[in-house]
Amino acid sequence: MPRLNENYLNVKDSYLFAEIARRVKVYEEEHPDKSANVIRLGIGDVTRPLTKSVINALHEAVDSQAVSETFKGYGPEQGYDFVRNAIAAYYAKNGVEVDPDAVFISDGAKSDTGNITELFAKDNTILIPDPVYPVYVDTNTMDGKNIIYMNGTEENNFLPMPDDSVKADIIYLCSPNNPTGACYTKDQLKAWVDYAKKNEAVILYDSAYEAFISEPELPRSIYAVEGAKECAIEFCSLSKTAGFTGTRFSYTVVPKELVFTSSNGTKMSVHDMWNRRQSTKFNGTPYIIQYAAAKVFTDEGMAECMENISYYKENARLIADVLSKKGIWFTGGVNSPYIWFKCPNDMESWEFFDYLLENAQVVGTPGAGFGENGKNYFRLTAFGSHEKTKEAMERFDRLF
Ligand SMILES: Cc1ncc(COP(=O)(O)O)c(C=O)c1O
Repeated sequence: MPRLNENYLNVKDSYLFAEIARRVKVYEEEHPDKSANVIRLGIGDVTRPLTKSVINALHEAVDSQAVSETFKGYGPEQGYDFVRNAIAAYYAKNGVEVDPDAVFISDGAKSDTGNITELFAKDNTILIPDPVYPVYVDTNTMDGKNIIYMNGTEENNFLPMPDDSVKADIIYLCSPNNPTGACYTKDQLKAWVDYAKKNEAVILYDSAYEAFISEPELPRSIYAVEGAKECAIEFCSLSKTAGFTGTRFSYTVVPKELVFTSSNGTKMSVHDMWNRRQSTKFNGTPYIIQYAAAKVFTDEGMAECMENISYYKENARLIADVLSKKGIWFTGGVNSPYIWFKCPNDMESWEFFDYLLENAQVVGTPGAGFGENGKNYFRLTAFGSHEKTKEAMERFDRLF
């Protein structure tokens, strides 16, 4: 009999979205007259289709596979140079220098933020914010790693800062944040980089929502902070930037400067380790997808994506306006598709979920699903249509 990885016994059931679906189904069955009215503002998935440049490129790439001269078999595990160079050029446009060799193409920030745990030994102390995107907690729990939490609260605007009394080896940061929509400033990221360097820690920086940042002084990459290449890995994705949630394309930057000393004194390059890991366990993102993804990074391609992002951000503004008018505390919405607010009347988040569904037929995401500190908060997303978002917020406005 195989001995199983019993750490899986410690992974909590991922019941958040299943429980939301269950409660909505029960409500719809009990109120068939109202079921057509239900508006879903809970999902973290995009609704706008792929852009014209991407669709044209996908067609072109598919056709190229029908001709032996342009047919592609296995590609480089790290990704094709044409797209790694395009990503480095995209960083440069945002004022950050990244070596194309440090860019690894993948099929999702979820896979990479999960798989990266393999590079680190079991006895590391992992610092994870609460509330948080659940993948960081679950993947480290599967590995049997020691997790400590840092509190996101209203007082710190759900942006926990380093605490010198805590000694961590690996730190997860996500900015703009899912679920809170909060975004670190450059000074705050510098404090994290300083902490990491002082403690010889590594920062795993999830920047999947960087394209939603519109305030120019906010950093879109941790590498905007000097010295970050010596202590940080950055994860990015086209899922929300370009609507690739179903198409699948992401990239991870593992700088060559990221070098730590092993127990026997050997210098180990994290870049080389990740390269070895990917070359061994991954055979690359499909050529067709990489070809289309490269178009996202052209001026025309990015302008089209920005139109979709502006569309979502207009929804975020509609949501934020109503919350402001009602005097409800919230964060996010400006540089992010997520709005995170305090449940009115001291309700707990599942109680508020039921209340909103019953009385306004609006579905959101209870903050409790993202951690203990979320239990009195609620997430709405801007990924719906203008019409539905407006209608949902008019109902919300009438309710409170
Ligand atoms: C913070 C964060 N990181 C990563 C991901 C996953 O991205 P991908 O679709 O590239 O796997 C998500 C998706 O919701 C996310 O919210």
